[in-house]
Amino acid sequence: MIEHSIQLAPSILASDFAHLADQVERATAGGASVIHVDIMDGHFVPNLTLGPPVVKSLRRATRLPLDCHLMIENPDQYIAEFADAGADWISVHQEACRHLNRTLNLIKQHECRAGVVINPATPVETLSEVLDIVDYVLVMSVNPGFGGQKFIPGTLHKMRKLAEIRADRGYRYRIEVDGGVGMDTVAEVVRAGAEILVAGNAVFGKGDAKVNAQTLLEAARSASLQRV
Ligand code: DX5
Ligand code: ZN
Repeated sequence: MIEHSIQLAPSILASDFAHLADQVERATAGGASVIHVDIMDGHFVPNLTLGPPVVKSLRRATRLPLDCHLMIENPDQYIAEFADAGADWISVHQEACRHLNRTLNLIKQHECRAGVVINPATPVETLSEVLDIVDYVLVMSVNPGFGGQKFIPGTLHKMRKLAEIRADRGYRYRIEVDGGVGMDTVAEVVRAGAEILVAGNAVFGKGDAKVNAQTLLEAARSASLQRV
């Protein structure tokens, strides 16, 4: 895997929502190239966050792609609204979709990149029939619902497996990781095959988002050189 394939996707969940545009700008100045937006409905996960109006405002505040991670039940019902609000990438949970193929195709019909997400307890095997149509696979390395949780090392083998399957079958999806990614875990997720790194607290927690993003990206890129 080559060095430039690593992307940092700061999760705005950990940012100061009263200064969202500034925070996104700082992270962008530090090298972030995707903005991760966590949408929670209080049903699929035990927390509530934001909806299409915030996505619409963010769309005006940044040129970076908006990566909308839907942690909601019945995602089909909201895909058009998020796409219209300016989402560029939309991911849905395998666990929330009764008709996963249909949902992923619906995302593509709205001209967004389609991603599928698996919780820590969900095996990669559950995705075997959709890996040929997804643009990215998001491996949750915490149980979804909250920022600032501890990374679950038992999820690393799923990133490795996804990289292996992609090489074996010639698929094109990218591998994203979300949850507990910080200076202490970034090297191992990158070595396991993750390319799109979601980070909330590690970017918007303590200190300056620009410096934090830069430091994290540097660590990720040097780890990616070790995995060749
Ligand atoms: C968790 C969310 C994550 C979260 C990550 O349900 O999907 O995107 O914001 O936060 P950190 O990086 O702080 O674990
Ligand atoms: Zn997320």
